Amino acid sequence: MEQAHKKPTFYITTPIYYPSAQLHIGHTYCTTLADVLARYHRLKGEDVFFLTGSDEHGQKIQRKAEEAGVTPQAYVDHIVAGFQKLWKKLNITNDDFVRTTEKRHAEVVQALFQKAYDKGDIYKSQYEGWYCTPDETFWPENKLGPDHTCPDCGRPVELVKEESYFFRMSNYADRWLQFIEENPDFIQPASRRNEMIEFVKSGLEDLSVSRSSFDWGIPVPFDDKHVVYVWFDALVNYLTGIGYLDAPEKFEHYWPADLHLVGKEIVRFHAIIWPIMLMSLGLPLPKKVYGHGWLIVDGVKMSKSIGNVVDPMPLLDEFGADAIRYFLATDISLGQDGNFSRGRLIKKTNSDLANDLGNLLHRTLTMVEKYRDGVVTATDAPLGAVVADANAALTKLAQETVASYTRDMDKLAMNDAFKAVWVYVRALNKYIDTTEPWKLSKGTAPADLDSVLYHLVDGLRTVAILVAPLIPQAAENMWAQLGLADFAAARLDGAAPETYPSGTTVHKTQPLFPRHELDTVTEEKKLTEETKPTEAAAKTQPETAAKDGKQEAADEKPQITIDDFAKLDLRVAEVLACEKVEKADKLLHLTVTLGDEERSIVSGIAQHYQPEELVGKHVIVVTNLKPVKLRGVLSQGMILAGSKDGALHVPFLPDLPAGSRVK
Ligand code: ME8
Ligand code: MG
Repeated sequence: MEQAHKKPTFYITTPIYYPSAQLHIGHTYCTTLADVLARYHRLKGEDVFFLTGSDEHGQKIQRKAEEAGVTPQAYVDHIVAGFQKLWKKLNITNDDFVRTTEKRHAEVVQALFQKAYDKGDIYKSQYEGWYCTPDETFWPENKLGPDHTCPDCGRPVELVKEESYFFRMSNYADRWLQFIEENPDFIQPASRRNEMIEFVKSGLEDLSVSRSSFDWGIPVPFDDKHVVYVWFDALVNYLTGIGYLDAPEKFEHYWPADLHLVGKEIVRFHAIIWPIMLMSLGLPLPKKVYGHGWLIVDGVKMSKSIGNVVDPMPLLDEFGADAIRYFLATDISLGQDGNFSRGRLIKKTNSDLANDLGNLLHRTLTMVEKYRDGVVTATDAPLGAVVADANAALTKLAQETVASYTRDMDKLAMNDAFKAVWVYVRALNKYIDTTEPWKLSKGTAPADLDSVLYHLVDGLRTVAILVAPLIPQAAENMWAQLGLADFAAARLDGAAPETYPSGTTVHKTQPLFPRHELDTVTEEKKLTEETKPTEAAAKTQPETAAKDGKQEAADEKPQITIDDFAKLDLRVAEVLACEKVEKADKLLHLTVTLGDEERSIVSGIAQHYQPEELVGKHVIVVTNLKPVKLRGVLSQGMILAGSKDGALHVPFLPDLPAGSRVK
């Protein structure tokens, strides 16, 4: 009887990107990491499906297209073509790409909307919003201009109600909490899980899932005045991509997803709304949602309005995909924010890729050519003590490296996995220094030299396999230079010591990575300053400002006029994300929204609040304080807190939307 050998499947997704703006280096972060993971699981021999795509509907896109004088479809076609070019250039190996404007996607969304409606989980009600009649546009309160005006045209808006369909999220809060309790690893990292639990416990509201004020969207199947709104459209792409309607066998094969990798600000949608939609539809839930950190520049998430956007295309032209991939996956630990800097990219490319790895390969192959006419031969002959000991240590390290690499990759600790690989690479370099092959070449122990060259080439073979998911072009290039065939068939279980085929001829070509020069001295200086607080920051350091409650009472302040007070721009801000500042036990780094603008704020309240207590809270921010850097993190405002006897208390204003003025 034939035995069924079923390969394990691994279904991994990235978010689908909005084509509202050009993609920046921050967007490439998630897709690159997902690609490293997808390639790793293929290397393990698994049956991988890797999905990405574009999220193309909505009022914003409709308006942009109108401004540009083209149809929405033509508008998105152009931008999405740019995405696809970018992913190709980064060597992204997605198996499919879902555009939400595709017919196959609209059909799935409509089928599922109908199903939820038939079940009674979708009902019609009223959505309240501010309406600009001349523009025919709804605006949420926190987006309005001064005195209730349209932020676009400046004319007055009026409060009107729009008919909308709602999805009964509220019915599922208990089931969701039970699911999370039974599946503690569903939301990662753990801090994000706690945020989500807090959020659901504080009360789930039903979700508005349709609009009738614009029409760039998928029509609600039973009411063509409405189009499906945002998340009920976008999230469904994860089902479309594996053939929910048009390829049921494929769908059964890959669903549920093993990993939805998403940015931390959209964890809420993936970890709460999405599982609840799936519960309502009676589908199995995904295994994991991982919320990664942001790539930031001076402590701020890249955004067009802040003007700190780094375009990946010229960087890719200059450094190549491997160097960018290497930087993104190894310089930042997945759950945390990471700083992007060109100077650091250059430093890492030079030291880790050009020096440690590239030189190792080049040195090794040069010696094989010089001493053995390019042919590598294993030997069983007795060896001198130095070489025998060095070989044993190297073999042991190779085995440990493969084991720890596998363990770390499996738990998504990519930077740790590759750190271990580079420890091994450096050990191979040291092995050359210890065994001194140039001396062996002059001596009387040819077996020692054969063995050293063999172990180097064999070690490089193992390295090529381990780095294949990360720097695929360089890995393939290494493979070819090592004289090996069929790189595509290489698998992780083949990364065992002493498997390089004896008698192989190597083919040395160009160095793996060119070196790059740091552009200017100032760039080097900027690199070191990034971690130092500036002088200005030291003066307003919240750590010292908040230190002593007693002193504040004693400090009588002079009278001011109402005009003095009016100089302060105090506003309500919603906390989007919050984490501890490394090596500063009093500081929290908050990302808040003022409704139409995100701000990065460092606040000296870490000893009084846990980060997860603050996410979702509405706080008061002094928004026109001069920005300063604290511990290298930009602070664009200050959070108000009451203080008594050293204890700090931040007032929350849950009823006021972000952006509301405080006066
Ligand atoms: O949110 N660093 O799309 P999006 C790291 N369409 N990641 C970043 C980043 C940065 N500086 N800037 C953006 C959407 N991202 C929805 C998703 S999924 C069913 C629908 C990440 O184009 C961000 O965190 O605004 C998110 O995960 C992804 O880019 C897409 O963002
Ligand atoms: Mg977003």
